[in-house]
Amino acid sequence: MTDNQKNKIALEDRAENGNKLYSPSTARNRDPIRDVFLKFMPLEGKILEIGGGTGEHAIHIASKLPNVVWHTGDPDETSRASIAAWIEDAGLSNVKGPHSIDVRAEDWGIEAEAPFDGLVSINMIHIAPITAAEGLFAGAQRILAPAGKFFLYGPFSKGGIHISPSNEAFDQSLKSRDPRWGVRDIDADLLPLAKKNGLILQEAVEMPANNLSLIFRKS
Ligand SMILES: C[S@@+](CC[C@H](N)C(=O)[O-])C[C@H]1O[C@@H](n2cnc3c(N)ncnc32)[C@H](O)[C@@H]1O
Repeated sequence: MTDNQKNKIALEDRAENGNKLYSPSTARNRDPIRDVFLKFMPLEGKILEIGGGTGEHAIHIASKLPNVVWHTGDPDETSRASIAAWIEDAGLSNVKGPHSIDVRAEDWGIEAEAPFDGLVSINMIHIAPITAAEGLFAGAQRILAPAGKFFLYGPFSKGGIHISPSNEAFDQSLKSRDPRWGVRDIDADLLPLAKKNGLILQEAVEMPANNLSLIFRKS
């Protein structure tokens, strides 16, 4: 894969050290994301991360969660190599992977390991067709334990209105790259998917750079 293709998946210029990739956006958002995770998500049990990218969020969060087994992965091969390298380098026995789950699949191939106490997806559903959001919520219903939590982070609009001019510009730039991509709307896109799949929105936490952390609970 060329550098250009790699960066198109991430929408940013990632630095490399062997197979380990470093995401500039993760360097900026990993602490606030971890803080919200530690406040609202299960602190023990099994967590499944989708679209783990470089693997940095997994290592950063799981390093504070000795009683959690964190399973991460990504459908992209270069990302999986980075995840494997980060796991090996960190030497954390509670981080597993990489899996290669593409959320659009009807069966993620991990259902036999369910139930999971938590599901996490950071900055994925806007850089993918809406079928990815549909698959993610459907999978949440399949794999989460009763009262399990689903952490969704990214830029979202509310009631069809962008929460900042920069999010609106970002939405337009996503759509110019691929018309199927775009900032998802909490009311029009996500709450109907949550309802369809037995999930309730519990928390919407404002994050730096006009992003949100959404915490859903399986009913
Ligand atoms: C912008 S990157 C974010 C990576 C990481 N979560 C982060 O915040 O740094 C989006 C990731 O979602 C993954 N992805 C895209 N479509 C997906 C799908 N259908 N199922 C699972 N992961 C997907 C991509 O391979 C990519 O690694």
